[in-house]
Amino acid sequence: MNKTIAILNGPNLNLLGTREPEIYGNTTLAEIEGMCREAAVKQGFNVDFKQSNHEGNLIDWVQQAGREAVGIIINAAGYTHTSVALHDALKAVRIPVIEVHLSDPKARETFRHYSYIEPVAKKTICGHGAKGYVMAIEALAGL
Ligand code: DQA
Repeated sequence: MNKTIAILNGPNLNLLGTREPEIYGNTTLAEIEGMCREAAVKQGFNVDFKQSNHEGNLIDWVQQAGREAVGIIINAAGYTHTSVALHDALKAVRIPVIEVHLSDPKARETFRHYSYIEPVAKKTICGHGAKGYVMAIEALAGL
């Protein structure tokens, strides 16, 4: 049985570790990937962990996950607040979506208060730093 979770990361998350550590913490994306693999194995899942700075890549990967995965965990980063196209792609797939953010965007600048991902996500986890990804895996396993 296919038990792959697609974990998709949007723009600038490749810079984690050095990018605004006072907001996003010191954990690198590679370290988050390791944490996700460890947590997923415990729940009996495989992980397909990806990052892109390009909206179209993220949309292609959402569509691919719709064919090949059992769930999607997405930190759409800046596209969270701008991308109708990513919203549409997530709405088109029939697998559960969990939204993750390291920070709490609603406690930051007003332009971060609206999420195009939230209406199509089963759950949003924000403000827990890197641990939020592990919480998202546990949430997906519980669905
Ligand atoms: C983020 C929050 C977004 O507002 C921001 O554009 C990011 C990261 C987070 O994980 O806290 O790039 O998604």
